[in-house]
Amino acid sequence: MKEIFIGIDLGTTNTLACQVDGGKPIIIKIKGSKMLPSVLHVDKDKNIVIGKRAKKLGVLDPKNTIRSSKTYMADAKKKWTVGGLTFTPTEVATEILKEVKAQVIEKLHLEKDTKINAVITVPAYFTGNQKDETKKAGVAAGLNVIQIITEPMAAAVAAVRELELNEKIFVVDLGGGTFDISVLQADRANNTYRAIDLAGDKKLGGDDFDKMLYDYFIGIIQDDLGIDLSSQKKSGLTESDYNSMTGRIREAAETAKIDLSENTEYTIDLANLFFHKGRNYDFNTELTREDFENICKPLFDKIISRIKKFIAESDRFKVSDIGTIILAGGSCYIPKVKADVEKIFNKRADSQLNLDTLVVVGAAIVADPNLISKPIVEDILAHSLGIEVISPDGKKLILSKILNKGEKYPCESSKIYTTTDDNQTTVPIFIYEAGSDAEDVEDIDAHEYYGDVSLENIAPAPAGVPNIKVTFRYDISGTVVVEAQDEQSGVKNIIEIKKGDKEEHKKKRRKKQRPIDFMLLLDVSGSMYDEPLREATQACEILFNDMINFDIHKMGFITFETYTRRLVPLTQDKNRLKNALRNLSAGGGTNLADALRCANEDLAESSNIKVVIIVTDGQPFDEDFTLDYAERMKDAGIRIVTIGAGSEVKESFIKKVSSSPDDAYKIDNMSKLQETFKTALKSIEEKK
Ligand SMILES: Nc1ncnc2c1ncn2[C@@H]1O[C@H](COP(=O)(O)OP(=O)(O)OP(=O)(O)O)[C@@H](O)[C@H]1O
Ligand SMILES: [Mg+2]
Repeated sequence: MKEIFIGIDLGTTNTLACQVDGGKPIIIKIKGSKMLPSVLHVDKDKNIVIGKRAKKLGVLDPKNTIRSSKTYMADAKKKWTVGGLTFTPTEVATEILKEVKAQVIEKLHLEKDTKINAVITVPAYFTGNQKDETKKAGVAAGLNVIQIITEPMAAAVAAVRELELNEKIFVVDLGGGTFDISVLQADRANNTYRAIDLAGDKKLGGDDFDKMLYDYFIGIIQDDLGIDLSSQKKSGLTESDYNSMTGRIREAAETAKIDLSENTEYTIDLANLFFHKGRNYDFNTELTREDFENICKPLFDKIISRIKKFIAESDRFKVSDIGTIILAGGSCYIPKVKADVEKIFNKRADSQLNLDTLVVVGAAIVADPNLISKPIVEDILAHSLGIEVISPDGKKLILSKILNKGEKYPCESSKIYTTTDDNQTTVPIFIYEAGSDAEDVEDIDAHEYYGDVSLENIAPAPAGVPNIKVTFRYDISGTVVVEAQDEQSGVKNIIEIKKGDKEEHKKKRRKKQRPIDFMLLLDVSGSMYDEPLREATQACEILFNDMINFDIHKMGFITFETYTRRLVPLTQDKNRLKNALRNLSAGGGTNLADALRCANEDLAESSNIKVVIIVTDGQPFDEDFTLDYAERMKDAGIRIVTIGAGSEVKESFIKKVSSSPDDAYKIDNMSKLQETFKTALKSIEEKK
């Protein structure tokens, strides 16, 4: 069986393929063009169409077309249904790569079973998950993915070969959907390319400029006709008119943007855009380059500030170290992008290289097995990788880094962890990758969930005794391997990471929390009449509806005045609790002791954490008796939290009733109840 070696630049907007033939990189033209638009369309017969034709069909029928799917790579929640077929971001990439493969076979006149070895490029700022999914798409498309390399690395390899560089280079790659900035060291003599530092934004590119212009054009039409075009329903247009209008404006926005890179003025002329009030509406407008730069100012600002921040924060290079600035990606044709970059460095960017093909040429050079001296590429980790652990004070979940941003591939590192429960025989390990711009944030929720692994069969021991060594290893292709070992029993597992959805994982994590049985005791004595009761009812409604996680916890509801009413026993049904708020009325005295007695009875059977929350605006009949009763409940392990509103409430009393002075909240009136519930619940969660 014959085999070939190619490079593929799987771009947000365009995909390219290239092969080195006799030492010369040749772009493989796909359907007559060097770029295959990364667009998927499903036609009426459910045929999947990829590329130029899909892009064209998408102008009039955007609803059945998927564009820029790479922006969502590895987003477990993202799915598109077009023309009755459903695709994940990885599946869209697979379809695009299948088309590339079919075209390569045709163009190079290869046998159908030829083995196609490919180096595929990804943004440097992609997470490990996104790299894995890209590789998976390549394999599913029938390619032999020999390596995944970063786009700036590929650009550097191509540029160095052409320009004979031997220095530190700064690569700015602004494509359709992603923005990468990297510093690389090129050593021409040894044909070695070393990544030094990188940063970027996974969601910034030409698409954002198109969107800003799109919104601007839509704004003009809305003002012109006095209609709302934010949705088809609101617009009053037919569905097909609305869809083709959005598709044509989007196309006009991109065309205007591209034209304004060459010219200083552009005329948009869209005849028969839609039918409105008995006539066809034509859209005409003039746009200058200056207009474009003003409309898109927030994007230019974002690009500049990202580069400046990178330079200011990196301790791995100085601006004066940079020998050459290389621009890559179609959006670097925008004159202001180029000018802004040059201003930051006070130096001209290279202008000999082809922005469109640099990345794919580099990928093809790395793929080529016939080179006498193969380029050696040393990539670095774009994000730290670690696991979820409980912070030393036991209050929150934090990221414990095992591999750090900037480490060279391949790399390996280990840390020792332990168990949190007695006789724990299984340890679930939740892996996270540091979020963009959140490298130094501890809180786990700032980071991106990668997946989980589980170490089983640990020798039973008290909590904190076992030594569990967790090792992360990245191989050259960027695949991560996790190894966990119980040092006591020697049980060792090389574990495959199970990918999952961050939200699912969070739900599971919450389920693991210890359940709490809450009893809410609301004072409805005479002094609560009218406004206080209305405000308290509102706050309780929000408490039931939004603040308590009823997947885990339960709540019961008691009102008290001279008499106590057990309105709802402990339940996980928030609607029952909400219904009980319907007919509350105020009157009578303040018999808190009896309400505590009822709550105590209701909690007697519970084996969960027990919490009583008292909301009152007065002092009870018999303070000593109430305090005695509260004391007994606290001794039995019930936590009492008191919220006292208004001047009648004695702070010293509510501090004594509560489990600790910190569990007593004195507020001015019931309008503060909602936020006090929030504060109190947070403290309850923290000190379970
Ligand atoms: N002359 C031009 N002026 C301005 N923008 C341009 C020009 N030519 C192309 N573009 C824009 O460049 C983007 C496509 O660039 P490119 O093909 O490098 O992206 P990509 O590789 O598909 O995306 P990414 O690298 O983000 O995954 C599109 O948004 C396109 O509109
Ligand atoms: Mg690109």
